[in-house]
Amino acid sequence: MAIERTLTIIKPDAMAAGHAGDIIRLFEANHFKIVAARLVHLTKKEAEGFYAVHVDKPFFDSLTAFMSSGPALVMVLEAENVIARLREVMGATDPAKAAPGTIRKLYGSSLERNCVHGSDALQTAAFEIGYFFPGVELI
Ligand code: CMP
Repeated sequence: MAIERTLTIIKPDAMAAGHAGDIIRLFEANHFKIVAARLVHLTKKEAEGFYAVHVDKPFFDSLTAFMSSGPALVMVLEAENVIARLREVMGATDPAKAAPGTIRKLYGSSLERNCVHGSDALQTAAFEIGYFFPGVELI
């Protein structure tokens, strides 16, 4: 298994509810190393650029409005096989379908307000990391 990097976002719902610390603790408990972090308040346009792959989906406007509704914490995590492992730790996209103990089951409230994002593949991770950390030499 290779050492990988992935992009995660603690979304505005989790930030507003004060769950950032709980979610970071779960990342660290799973030995995901934080190699970059930024607190952002996205504009609608920035959220639309990030989620451009979903532009044709019926939920695109609502999702990007939500993602630009308040502060979010964007991080790059590093570990062996971290892309798949983070997705396991996050749980299913819909918190109602997420397994017990997963981040979305614990802190998500709906399909849209699902508290955390994680890249879904190596290529996506490269795009998403570059979107928030352009040209930055990650430690
Ligand atoms: P995320 O992992 O950030 O990737 C895309 C996001 O779109 C997803 O989490 C959800 O927050 C949101 N999403 C996916 N499907 C739906 C849907 N059917 N309705 C509303 N939001 C959705």
